[in-house]
Amino acid sequence: MNHELVGVVDFGGQYTQLIARRVRETNVFCEILMPDVKAEDLRRRKLKGLIMSGGPASVYAPGAPRCDPKLFELGVPVLGICYGMQLACLSLGGKVTAAKDREFGRTELTIGNGSPLFRGVPRRTSVWMSHGDKVETASREFEVLAATRNCANAAVRHRSRPIYGVQFHPEVAHTPQGGRMLRNFLFDVCGCHGDWKTTSVIEQAVSDIRAAVGPKGRVLCGLSGGVDSSVVATLVHRAIGSRLTCVFVDNGLLRLGEADQVRHLFRDRLHLNLVVSDSSEEFLRKLKGVSDPEKKRKIIGHVFIDVFAREAKRVKGVDFLAQGTLYPDVIESRSAFGGPSAVIKTHHNVGGLPKRLRFKLVEPLRHLFKDEVRKIGRALGMPPRLVDRQPFPGPGLGVRCLGPLSKPRLDLLRRADEIVVAEIEKAGLHKRLWQYFAVLLPVSTVGVMGDERTYDNVIAVRAVESLDGMTADWARIPNEVLATISSRIVNEVKGLNRVVYDISSKPPSTIEWE
Ligand code: XMP
Repeated sequence: MNHELVGVVDFGGQYTQLIARRVRETNVFCEILMPDVKAEDLRRRKLKGLIMSGGPASVYAPGAPRCDPKLFELGVPVLGICYGMQLACLSLGGKVTAAKDREFGRTELTIGNGSPLFRGVPRRTSVWMSHGDKVETASREFEVLAATRNCANAAVRHRSRPIYGVQFHPEVAHTPQGGRMLRNFLFDVCGCHGDWKTTSVIEQAVSDIRAAVGPKGRVLCGLSGGVDSSVVATLVHRAIGSRLTCVFVDNGLLRLGEADQVRHLFRDRLHLNLVVSDSSEEFLRKLKGVSDPEKKRKIIGHVFIDVFAREAKRVKGVDFLAQGTLYPDVIESRSAFGGPSAVIKTHHNVGGLPKRLRFKLVEPLRHLFKDEVRKIGRALGMPPRLVDRQPFPGPGLGVRCLGPLSKPRLDLLRRADEIVVAEIEKAGLHKRLWQYFAVLLPVSTVGVMGDERTYDNVIAVRAVESLDGMTADWARIPNEVLATISSRIVNEVKGLNRVVYDISSKPPSTIEWE
């Protein structure tokens, strides 16, 4: 890659990925690095700057992550944030202690005179703190740039090297001037120009794909109908045209009209070689009588792999598989701290194809965050409905149709879901929602329609606000919208006689019901 590079050393803080995204929003490319990264390796990569993230540990705790002290001798500007600041100061002769008054939340920062880090920032400004330890004496090598009521060394700077530390978190939205501080660091201190733009990402990805695949290579790509695989397919198609074949597996667990939309967009409009494998019967046969959510997920995952492998064999001469692996998948799979979190739900995606398929991988999104993929999708001219689409789980309606799966029950769910989505979008609420969908419950309830007693199914409506799906709050949807959804579902879908609204947040609930 030939653009400017900033490294973010990950000490396990909850905001590390956020730091990286904030940096990239300024058009500066950055990579997340492990704490054991060697100064020598970085010297070769000609970094413009280094940001050291926060972390949950105390710098003195046994096993607390440390970094190569030579990182501070590279001559590259360093910004230590919270734990990163403590580590920088400790490595350069300072002292860190447990703070008497731990500081969590918003606090006022008072800034001293003239430092490029705070150029254009008011002398008093709100910042977000979240720490137990703090830098007590930053050694004579450091000067203090700013303080808060409980923290005399809230921002420091080395007297002779371009090393800065802040005890607060400039990357979070609760630090309103944080973006400006990061930009100051990147542009004024590191001397970046911001040469990383969506268009250059596309050009780079296309030329990388061409180089990897060669002049004759053929590529297979699994399309799920979601943003990531669609962007991958479009990029690969741009790079190698008809040497790409896409496979779309209709597992019978898709939303209303979804398979047709994929066919229309990719085959008719974008002219890709598209194989649609209608395997709904096979999936439903294998899922017959299964109610346990984890069993469902596993079966869906296995059948998907079987079907995909079968289809792949039919496409002759393929040596590469294109996948929509994203940067968070790459980072999380190599996390040094605690490894992957406990399995709450098994996630089976196209990304999980087994090695036995023996393809070489093409992963053009492996350096990108989701919002960047969306931006690229837009720049590639993909329809907004696809690019801005809400996340949809790999096992599809399989985990939203509670209890045993059958085509008639899935059809009920599909029709109700279509109404939920249409009404929420009509009311313009979708822009602030992470997900909104219908769930079919495994119970029947009594109702009355006309003069007739009914004994029919119940739909739960789920709508949540969230930033990343890790936590979520149930959405406060206006009552009138809920009323329209409810009456349309009961009136228009025979077999449904009751609608409930899910008012649980995550945690303790999850977004999906299974
Ligand atoms: P939960 O239900 O765990 O969901 O709160 C968090 C996010 O992940 C999505 N999800 C899945 N995505 N395969 C996926 O690709 C899965 O098996 C799966 N299960 C949940 C869910 O829609 C939400 O966005």
